[in-house]
Amino acid sequence: MRIAATADLHFSPQRANILKEQLAPVRDQADLLIVAGDLTNYGQPSEMEPLVNVLVRLRVPIVAVLGNHDYESDRQEELMKMMSDEGIKVLDGTGYERDGVGFAGTKGFVGGFGRSVLTSFGEPEIKTFVRASIDEAMKLERAMSQLRTAKRVVVLHYAPIAATVVGEAPEISAYLGTSRLAEVVDRHGADLIVHGHAHHGSLEGKTTAGIPVHNVAITLLQSQKPPAAYRVFDI
Ligand SMILES: [Fe+2]
Ligand SMILES: [Fe+2]
Repeated sequence: MRIAATADLHFSPQRANILKEQLAPVRDQADLLIVAGDLTNYGQPSEMEPLVNVLVRLRVPIVAVLGNHDYESDRQEELMKMMSDEGIKVLDGTGYERDGVGFAGTKGFVGGFGRSVLTSFGEPEIKTFVRASIDEAMKLERAMSQLRTAKRVVVLHYAPIAATVVGEAPEISAYLGTSRLAEVVDRHGADLIVHGHAHHGSLEGKTTAGIPVHNVAITLLQSQKPPAAYRVFDI
């Protein structure tokens, strides 16, 4: 299966025509499109509606997860329903199988990487924060355990490894993702992990177990030579 992947569209109606043009070749180049979160800027249905319009007109199956921006107006449930109603498969701690390839996805959360992962110790506020990070890792665990396919693709918004956030200010790296997510994927095994969120990170890296991780934030892809709006993976 040829899988196109992008993220961080941060859609505004003024960008509709550019985005249409950028994504038009997907249909010929891939069998499925992944959108790895931050579909909107402020999480407003008024942003999602025209975006869904652009996406469904691509006439290619779409798998998506939401990003932090899609939560900004606390209308994430509504956004997910708008997408599902139009046939977009929204993963939120869930799995999806298509043509022998399994997709497991969740938004993920922040918390840091490796030995710098924030642990649940001290004030209740820290514990709540860490809880949210662990909850997302558990949602991914649940999604992955649903898959029965030999081939597996993991879709996240936040980064699961530090390597693909390199390029962003080092001071904020713990706010760009957490290796708790990679630990889950390494336990279950996968062929590919895609994520976004780190707009100025690095294109690729690997988990401890050697699973390839790709940052497909559109800003990052656009800064390459030649600029791209998505990447295509053969699985
Ligand atoms: Fe973003
Ligand atoms: Fe984000």
